[in-house]
Parts: sequence; C-alpha cells; structure tokens
Amino acid sequence: MRTTLSMRPTGWFQIGWSSTVPPSGVIPLRYFGQDLVAWRDGRGVVRVLDAYCQHLGANLAHGGRVTERGIQCPFHGWTWNSDGRNVAIPYQDRPNRARRIRSWPVVERDEVLFLWHDAQGRAPYFEVPDLTTDVSPDLTGLTLQPALPDGVSHYPGMRVHPQFVVENAVDVHHFQFVHGTGRSPVILREEVTETTWHSVAGFGRRWADGVDRPGDRRSTITIHWVGIGFAYNAEHTPDG
Ligand code: FES
Repeated sequence: MRTTLSMRPTGWFQIGWSSTVPPSGVIPLRYFGQDLVAWRDGRGVVRVLDAYCQHLGANLAHGGRVTERGIQCPFHGWTWNSDGRNVAIPYQDRPNRARRIRSWPVVERDEVLFLWHDAQGRAPYFEVPDLTTDVSPDLTGLTLQPALPDGVSHYPGMRVHPQFVVENAVDVHHFQFVHGTGRSPVILREEVTETTWHSVAGFGRRWADGVDRPGDRRSTITIHWVGIGFAYNAEHTPDG
C-alpha cells in the first residue's frame, strides 16, 4: 500500500528477539535508514550504536569484538562503550574523548528487543510495558513461547507503516468482510492515554447490547497498544 506517512515514526520498535543477539554476539542491523551494530555485553545487556567507527569509518558490525569495556573496532582496535564514547586506543595511553558514536536506547523485555526511535532525537518519554504486570496479569507464571525459530513470518520483507496496523485495530467494520464475522463487533471498553490505547471488542449476538460484563471475556478481543510499535492482542474465542 502506498503511503506518504513518514517511515521514521516515534516509539519503541522491535528489532529482534532475545535470541537474535547471542551472548557476546555482534550483529549488523538496518533500521530507520541507518546501519547499526548490536552486541550483548559481558553482563548480558544488549547495546546498539550507529555502525560506523568514528575513527576511520569501519563498520563495527563486521568483525567488531565484544570486550569488557565495549565493542572493539576491527580496523585499528579502538574501543567504544555503550554510550558511544571512545574508551581505549590500543597504541595510545589515552582515548579520544572528542569522538563519539550515536547510541540508541534498547529494552529487552519478554524475549523481545525494542529500539527507541524518535525523528527529533528525543530521549524515550514512555516505557515498553511488562506483559504480566502492566498488560495482562493472566500471563503471570506462564512460560512465553519464543517466536523463533518455530514462528512463521507470512510476508517477510513487506513494508507496512505501523500506523496502518493500528488503524486496522480500530476499524470495527472490516471484520465482517475480511474475517467473515456475522456482524461488526462492538467496543465494550476503551481507555486512552497520550501513549497507550486499550480496548475490548465483543463479537456476535452475545455482545449486541454493548454492555461490558467484566470477568466475561468469551468471544472478545482485548487489544493493548503502546505507541505504534507495541501491540498485545488476546483473543478469547468461543472455544476459550
Ligand atoms: S576505523 Fe575503527 S579504529 Fe580505525
């Protein structure tokens, strides 16, 4: 679908799964038109910087090595910490404090890696929720199934603006025609904040009166959005 929407939206966006960056691993990424490097440091924390070394421009994602202090460039061995600051030059007794690589905020939560992107360069002003404490206490104690390697991506490589996905969620009348429901669902509950949207939609005659009956979630969909990069959907089908 063609769009004039910016492909540089603001928010937290998935850049992979926890398994995408193995312990002490270094991988290349490309998001928001930028070449990036991600690595997992000695404490197990995933870090992301712009990919290019601020010495002579080598791509840190190709041959970079995780050290105690950060990531070491494969070209002349300069080391950059998680803030993108140069902390060591192997053949000098002092780092180059004037050089800095852009660092990107990363959060690893519920087996997902999220990267913060803001076209205006602002720091994160909302958080990635925790599934069990912030979104769905029902999931407490359950083991989440990692999406990889068994998950299926039905349309790999398809470019879709995330706003379209959000708009689809609020479009109640497409269900009849696209998903073959007998009638359009009714919105039973809706809560909106500046950065979140929480909704419960009821399907079928059971919910035709539009009255929410908390505790009864049969034939409903619960949706929770945070920004336009995080979505949680829980579908309570007639079979449970
Ligand atoms: S290009 Fe990275 S240390 Fe020289």
